[in-house]
Amino acid sequence: MKKSDNVKAHFEKEAHEFDELILKLIPYYEEMINALISSIPFDSDDSIKVIDLGCGTGTISKSLKEKFKNAHVTCLDLADNMLQMAKIKLNQYKDVEYISGDFYNFGFPEKYEVIISSLALHHLVTDDDKKGFYKKIYNALNQGGVFFNADVVLGSNNYLQHLYIDKWKEFMNKSISMEEIEEKWIPAAEDEDHPAKLVDHLKWLNEIGFRDIDVVWKHYGVAVYGGNK
Ligand SMILES: C[S@@+](CC[C@H](N)C(=O)[O-])C[C@H]1O[C@@H](n2cnc3c(N)ncnc32)[C@H](O)[C@@H]1O
Repeated sequence: MKKSDNVKAHFEKEAHEFDELILKLIPYYEEMINALISSIPFDSDDSIKVIDLGCGTGTISKSLKEKFKNAHVTCLDLADNMLQMAKIKLNQYKDVEYISGDFYNFGFPEKYEVIISSLALHHLVTDDDKKGFYKKIYNALNQGGVFFNADVVLGSNNYLQHLYIDKWKEFMNKSISMEEIEEKWIPAAEDEDHPAKLVDHLKWLNEIGFRDIDVVWKHYGVAVYGGNK
């Protein structure tokens, strides 16, 4: 069994309802995506090469193409049903390609000006997996390129982590019953998600050599952060 088998099965199954669900599950998802795209420091008519890691149904790539019309975008995901949804969402845009692949053995065949990811890298299981993947990301960037990630993060101590979970439940409870949250969504996260402390992510990026590391946006346990090469 591969490390990503459960994650793949989950997203193959959820693909058709993903877009509706994510707005109920992730606090201020659209604001978060906006922060991610706003952090990209290129001119809107630049022909930048971009890869969206764990593109899912293509929401981030669509926001990117709306702003950067000449960008060449590669959408990478493990779940073919998610990629199918992305192809439908992005069919009006040119210069978009799709790769069905797993972070664990993805070789980054090209170099990019921009590497972005949203809500995907916390599926990498261990700290070493995450740091190792950040290193591959760094090597796949052209000089002057940027990496930004929007993702679930852990608080720096138990008190903050409990606060983050309470605030997350409070958000979900706007549209989902507390019973469903406790019986479905919290166990699913405990089972499948492997977030790390935000301060650790920033430390790893720094050790790898990223510059101008920053946290652009944060709402308790969800953050947008990254840096430049
Ligand atoms: C929560 S979804 C986020 C989708 C999209 N980025 C968004 O923010 O709407 C996470 C995506 O990451 C993909 N993913 C998770 N682990 C992966 C891996 N090891 N390799 C490639 N894709 C992966 C999943 O298949 C899923 O489509």
